[in-house]
Amino acid sequence: MIAHYELRCSSCNAPAQRHDLPCTTCGELLEFALQSDPPDADAARAYAATVARRRANDTPLDRSGIWRWRELLPQIPHASVVTLAEGNVPLYDMPELAEREGISALAFLHLGMNPTGSFKDLGMTVAISAARAEGATRAICASTGNTASSMAAYAARAGMEAFALVPRGKISGAKLAQMRDYGVRVVEVEGSFDDALAELTSRSSEGTAVVNSINPYRLEGQKCTAFAILEARSWRVPDWVVVPGGNLGNSSAIGKGFREARALGLIDRLPRLAVVQAEGAAPFVELYRSGRDLVPVVPRTIASAIAVGSPRSWRKARAELDASRGSAVAVSDDEIDAAKGRIGAAGIGCEPASAATLAGIARLRAEGTLTERDDVVAVLTGHVLKDSDASLRVADRRDVGA
Ligand code: F0G
Repeated sequence: MIAHYELRCSSCNAPAQRHDLPCTTCGELLEFALQSDPPDADAARAYAATVARRRANDTPLDRSGIWRWRELLPQIPHASVVTLAEGNVPLYDMPELAEREGISALAFLHLGMNPTGSFKDLGMTVAISAARAEGATRAICASTGNTASSMAAYAARAGMEAFALVPRGKISGAKLAQMRDYGVRVVEVEGSFDDALAELTSRSSEGTAVVNSINPYRLEGQKCTAFAILEARSWRVPDWVVVPGGNLGNSSAIGKGFREARALGLIDRLPRLAVVQAEGAAPFVELYRSGRDLVPVVPRTIASAIAVGSPRSWRKARAELDASRGSAVAVSDDEIDAAKGRIGAAGIGCEPASAATLAGIARLRAEGTLTERDDVVAVLTGHVLKDSDASLRVADRRDVGA
């Protein structure tokens, strides 16, 4: 398997001068661009078999669902890798829900089953490892709770100090408690996630790694979501993959993962990618459906994880949807709660942002974007215990039959 990566601008393609800043030519976000030979299905199959065999080994790198794919990640000295055995998550078949939604198959990849209860761990292991390899002593991020919890855990494992900028009063108590448990220093910012991210940009300094998804290392870990879906399905490509969208790093990363799998010969077609946002925080749905550029909004939704009004990775996400003939759809808070109730009642459970996927599937089916023939994977991004107020609200409504 011959693959290597060059750090470049995701927009103007200029080689990156520094990995920790936007492109110095055009100001856009960087990415690790795959340089590979033409697809080779035999070599790809052999590589996938090697990766699968690594599961049985007892070394920390092989026990990680991310570092098992290390040939497809930025090269980091193994001694610097910080791992919590992330990325080993289940794909749950949901035949009853598929039937209810009128589609041929539905499965949930539950990324809430990661060490800190969200998909952020997939990227954080790479971002913190890279930071440690470069001698950073501090990590910082803006967050609606999950990025900060993940950063706090990995930074603590690496012996680094961690600082989280969070929107005051707008994140779940469970997430605040979790990040503090790992010893993070919390700075509360007035306003929304977008204000916290703006504040962070002004606080960056030498020796401090910014670990939001503007950091290209994060996305390299998160792209392994695509490999996890494919591996769990014996490399059968689903028709659609449905992802909740906030700052849009994750949708961009998952799209990149599928494109790389195709470029290497692991698969021969792309699944279509659908991004679901909450109606009160849906600037990407608006821009994707209208064909215009981003118009930021003041975010308002009960799905606090995806209350983002000015997503930084919108250009990358738009390119992934274009490449995969994807779609973007907005759902109401009531639809999110109802979907969360159905996922809970199926014995799975997740936080509201993740339930937006099932609500989005219902909308996409109603508008005819999804058909009765479609085989769909939804990515559940956060664990049910991440937002207990939401669980109580949904269960109370179910109990009174509302
Ligand atoms: N789902 C959950 C549970 C999240 O925490 C997030 C983002 C998303 C979906 C959306 O992912 O931003 O890559 O589009 N949470 C960030 C945070 C904003 O700070 O934890 P995205």
